[in-house]
Amino acid sequence: MLANPDFAWMDGEIVEWKNATVHVSTDLVLRGANVFEGMRGYWNSDKKEMFIFRNAEHLKRLRESAKIMRMTIPYTDEELTEAFIQLIRKNKFEEGVHFRPVVYFDQGEPNFYKPEEIRTGMFILAFARPHSKAIFNGVESCTSTWRRNSDLSMPSRVKAGANYHNSRLAHVEARINGFASPIMLNERGKVSEGPASCFMMVRDGVVITPPVTGDILESITRATLIQLCREELGIEVVEREVDRSELYIADEGFFCGSGAEVTPMISLDRYPLGSGKVGPITKKIQDLYFDVAAGKVEKYRDWLLPVYGRG
Ligand SMILES: Cc1ncc(COP(=O)(O)O)c(C=O)c1O
Repeated sequence: MLANPDFAWMDGEIVEWKNATVHVSTDLVLRGANVFEGMRGYWNSDKKEMFIFRNAEHLKRLRESAKIMRMTIPYTDEELTEAFIQLIRKNKFEEGVHFRPVVYFDQGEPNFYKPEEIRTGMFILAFARPHSKAIFNGVESCTSTWRRNSDLSMPSRVKAGANYHNSRLAHVEARINGFASPIMLNERGKVSEGPASCFMMVRDGVVITPPVTGDILESITRATLIQLCREELGIEVVEREVDRSELYIADEGFFCGSGAEVTPMISLDRYPLGSGKVGPITKKIQDLYFDVAAGKVEKYRDWLLPVYGRG
């Protein structure tokens, strides 16, 4: 469990952690009516600077999720960016942080309101969050018996809290059965993603990942890694449908996401992937990703937003 910080941001102001509350009658609480982002700030100890990774892309996706759910975010991008900076500064974070801006529907007649007839609120929670051990050791995964949300019912493209009930069913089942994060297939039986991350595999030196039409979240990390593979590492990347059985014969595999970062998968359904250890291409991609995120690669500095004004 991550330690609670001292402050959160709620409806336009920084509040003490204990005062960051919403009423039980809200549609947020009753029906999970929210959209959100999961973002990271990376600490560069040489520069004593925190870099928010791909702020503009996360804000854009937050608005896209809100648009599909017919929510109007009551703040501009500039106001939200300032809120992120102020919240991190106020908590005096000097290590990696993970933060979640959340937009939600307040209290309304059950399901009958038009979006403009209900208050839209917003809060931001930020936690110090170091890399998980799984980043370095890899995870033993399984194929979930649960299918990923279909675009025909509740689009996985929307980063909505309610989508994470689908994720939770899959994740808890995997944990109870002795695995870490599972792979979910979509309703067409093709590989989609993990409960909170996208997936990439390596076959014969080529990185292969399900397409954005495969019932996945349009992951910012996925887009980042595709670009870094192509432009920096000279690795071919193919976006295409992936069969479950292809994973068993993949040389390497990894989950990717703002939270998951680049988490190697070392086995699936007890089939070892490649050597059954963290793969060399995965490691290369992971190393570059961390260097870029920490501001060590000049070319990608415009992906980073300095928080303390020292970077
Ligand atoms: C379901 C799901 N898929 C994919 C991702 C990865 O998206 P991103 O790289 O934008 O964080 C996430 C969040 O991290 C997620 O929750």
